[in-house]
Amino acid sequence: MVLTMIRDIAAHVGKEVKLGGWLYNKRSSGKIQFLQIRDGSGVIQGVLVKSQVSPEVWEKANRLTQESSLYVQGTVRKDDRAPSGYELDVTDVDIIQVADEYPISLKEHGVEFLMDHRHLWIRTPRQQAILRIRAEIIRAIQDYLNHNGFTLVDPPILTPSSCEGTTTLFHTKYFDEDAYLTQSGQLYLEAAAMALGRVYSFGPAFRAEKSKTRRHLIEFWMIEPEMAFVDHEGNMKIQEELVSHVVQHVLNQCRRELETIGRDIAPLERVKPPFPRITYDEAVELLKKEGFEFEWGEDFGAPHETKIAESFDRPVFITHYPTEIKAFYMKPDPNRPEVVLGADLIAPEGYGEIIGGSQRIDDPQLLEQRFQEHNLPREAYQWYMDLRKYGTVPHSGFGLGLERTVAWICGLDHVRETIPFPRMLNRLYP
Ligand code: 4AD
Ligand code: MG
Repeated sequence: MVLTMIRDIAAHVGKEVKLGGWLYNKRSSGKIQFLQIRDGSGVIQGVLVKSQVSPEVWEKANRLTQESSLYVQGTVRKDDRAPSGYELDVTDVDIIQVADEYPISLKEHGVEFLMDHRHLWIRTPRQQAILRIRAEIIRAIQDYLNHNGFTLVDPPILTPSSCEGTTTLFHTKYFDEDAYLTQSGQLYLEAAAMALGRVYSFGPAFRAEKSKTRRHLIEFWMIEPEMAFVDHEGNMKIQEELVSHVVQHVLNQCRRELETIGRDIAPLERVKPPFPRITYDEAVELLKKEGFEFEWGEDFGAPHETKIAESFDRPVFITHYPTEIKAFYMKPDPNRPEVVLGADLIAPEGYGEIIGGSQRIDDPQLLEQRFQEHNLPREAYQWYMDLRKYGTVPHSGFGLGLERTVAWICGLDHVRETIPFPRMLNRLYP
């Protein structure tokens, strides 16, 4: 008999189906057993009445422990009292394995314990819901970009040089040479944008960051669009459209998951363009008014970003950061070279920076100067200089951090729950 998925159960009311699944929970009154069965696509309650099944089937159901794997056969019945709206009147049970005593009970556990059992923790409804939302966010991003003229390109993971400063480089050997795991595909995407106009990548990024915060992973995923003939203003416009599209998509497609994790959706419903824009200078003034001690030229930390975000009801762009604290490739404002034509997008509700982006330096001389100022090995970037020698054009791009975006949309207080197997400062297992 072909297996039915629980998500499709509505189409089988009154019919006999066979499911493959795991026992999530069990209750028994002595005469009736209620089996909560999950198959990854959903959960359904199976009902066994002792007087109506064979003694063997009753006995097999009796032996099932939490997370035992099984095939179960039964008739689908509509039941408005059931959480899923349907129940299964079980006629047969086929045990695949009676599971050992399961370490994750349905009670509370400490975070470190759960992280050590992440491979099992992801089976719980809350973690499943988060991972589903993550997948929908990825789908929405790709849909938006694919429908707006962007071509997907895949930059290399092993690279000879840094993109986002040398302090967080992840070093490895590349036969006899030194190599680094990519911090960002941006430089390669700039090359691709000169070939294909509008491009994007979706891939992992690695930063050997010694920061142990709610927002930092060592390995995270980034979406990086890069666009020829788009300036700083045009760059922000695409970002606000993309982020709004993603949030609205999740609201439309993931109602049940958002409910499962208890996300208040009112703040998400407000996420529509245009997003407010304030300059770094204005942000500094705002912080000072709020009683922060802050010097022009410092970078914002999490408490600063949270305070700034509090003044707005949707994500806010902070533009024109000091050139000194930003990456070497950002284009200075021609009217005020001490600040750059770039912006960070700060999520509401204290989730901090989800996007970093800018217009790029297109002038070969200025780029040469930056390599010197930043002490970057010129030879490793020869190819990148070529992009300014052979038909340089104004261009811009940005990187959207997937895990921070998932944390914000799901309302999670730590990025560790946004990715199946987080790599963090003190965690490489499981
Ligand atoms: O601001 P960042 O460092 O920008 C870049 O890497 C650019 N080269 C992107 C580009 O323009 N193509 O990183 C972009 C985003 C951040 O806004 C943040 O959301 C996320 O990546 N991010 C991290 N997420 C989790 N853990 C970390 N350690 C992260 N570092 C950055
Ligand atoms: Mg940044």
